[in-house]
Amino acid sequence: MFHILIADPISDEGLDVLVDNENITLTKDTGLTPEELENRIATFDALLVRSQTKVTRSIIEKAKNLKIIGRAGVGVDNIDLDAATENGIIVVNAPNGNTNSAAEHTMAMIMSLSRKIPQAHSGLKNHKWERSKYVGVEVKNKTLGIVGLGRIGTEVAYRAKGQRMNVIAYDPFLTEEKAEKMGIEYGELEDVLNKADYITVHTPLMKETRHMISVDAFRQMKDGVHIINCARGGIIDEEALYDALVSGKVAGAAIDVLEEEPFQDHKLLELSQVVATPHLGASTVEAQENVAIDVCHDVQKHLTGD
Ligand code: MLT
Repeated sequence: MFHILIADPISDEGLDVLVDNENITLTKDTGLTPEELENRIATFDALLVRSQTKVTRSIIEKAKNLKIIGRAGVGVDNIDLDAATENGIIVVNAPNGNTNSAAEHTMAMIMSLSRKIPQAHSGLKNHKWERSKYVGVEVKNKTLGIVGLGRIGTEVAYRAKGQRMNVIAYDPFLTEEKAEKMGIEYGELEDVLNKADYITVHTPLMKETRHMISVDAFRQMKDGVHIINCARGGIIDEEALYDALVSGKVAGAAIDVLEEEPFQDHKLLELSQVVATPHLGASTVEAQENVAIDVCHDVQKHLTGD
């Protein structure tokens, strides 16, 4: 019998894959503290998480029976991969299932920033009819700079072209030929920073990308640039972003993620030119079903030797 602990909310459509297997038992226990997880993990063969649960070295070292960690989503920055590897534990993610949702959320953030929709909405909810306060800007003919042209960055590029934006992208794996095929411009990071009216990041969080958008990067940007982060907190230096917003260098920022989550009281949220959502990029019915099904299939196959 294999025992699986589900430590974050995972869609039932995915869990059905496991429920149907008579050699598997599921325990759903979401919202455990790190200490509680450390105390409970020893008896489980598999652990399923989204991004909330931090699977640290000390948890992994207590996980004497653990064979696999399934991450229902893309980013594995909440899992100590070195510790997992040293302890012979496989880590699987679901890299495809939430691509569309993340790209759609990014476009929604770009439009919200440009047309001040969240601010105008909350004005109306407070019984204020303030048309002149919420004059926006069009995105047509503006340049969108994409840092990281993987699955999500690529989908954002196609959607931005649909909005008649010019797109310039930087990615260490992007070639001029591929950019040409996609109808976008290929650039180094500095080119993206220099030319873009909107900059959206779509890289994973790794030591190479931590604070990639720093004081120095903001210095290289156009005045009045808009910044979007629906990828991972930590890619943008939050202090540098705050200062750039306060000085007016950055006209507005749309944030779905911050370094410390959950975030409720961050000083960035106090600025009226910041729109924010609580890490909702992949939170659609479709994406959650897709990633849960993918990761549960992989976990089942690994445990049962399929
Ligand atoms: C991901 O990495 O897949 C997303 O951030 C979604 C999530 O954490 O749930």
